[in-house]
Amino acid sequence: MRTSRTRPDRKNVVLIGFMGSGKTLIGRLLARGLGFAFVDTDDEIVALAGKPITEIFAESGEPEFRELESKVLRELGDRDRSVFSTGGGIVTIEANIELLRAAGMVVWLDASPGAILERVSGNDDRPLLQTEDPEATIAEMLEQRRPLYKAAADQHVDTDDLSPDEIAYGIAESARVWFGGK
Ligand code: S3P
Repeated sequence: MRTSRTRPDRKNVVLIGFMGSGKTLIGRLLARGLGFAFVDTDDEIVALAGKPITEIFAESGEPEFRELESKVLRELGDRDRSVFSTGGGIVTIEANIELLRAAGMVVWLDASPGAILERVSGNDDRPLLQTEDPEATIAEMLEQRRPLYKAAADQHVDTDDLSPDEIAYGIAESARVWFGGK
């Protein structure tokens, strides 16, 4: 995690982390607490493509999805006073990391494989977890991605033992400090 850096002028909070880490729910609570707008990159991708994520993956594959994701991220560039909830794989494209960091304070919502499995089970809208052994898939993908989340993040939050409200409250407090009352 990078601790000191030139902070962007724009006051945004960017939530990153694995599928099922709570980015959307916590993002909405956080946006409400800060009085900021809320933007979910997956929703923006669906709007841009005109079809659900499962269809984008099925018809065009992951590379096309990543293209759309990077495009959406670039287009968020001029927003201010917003909370962005991003897709779990956004950090797998190297150029996205600088875009995320240029957008605002980047917070990594971390969760254990067990907590993730519990949160995503019974949910079939995540194509990358539709495997024979989702538990093994989660463990493997987490191992690959943890260094990427770490490299992108200004702050790290372990979500396993906290409620979404507690997490959102804590991030709002650090965001106010991070923005330095700007
Ligand atoms: C993905 C995560 C999903 C969505 C897509 C790919 C990933 O978003 O962007 O299914 O590669 O981890 P969530 O993290 O919001 O589930």
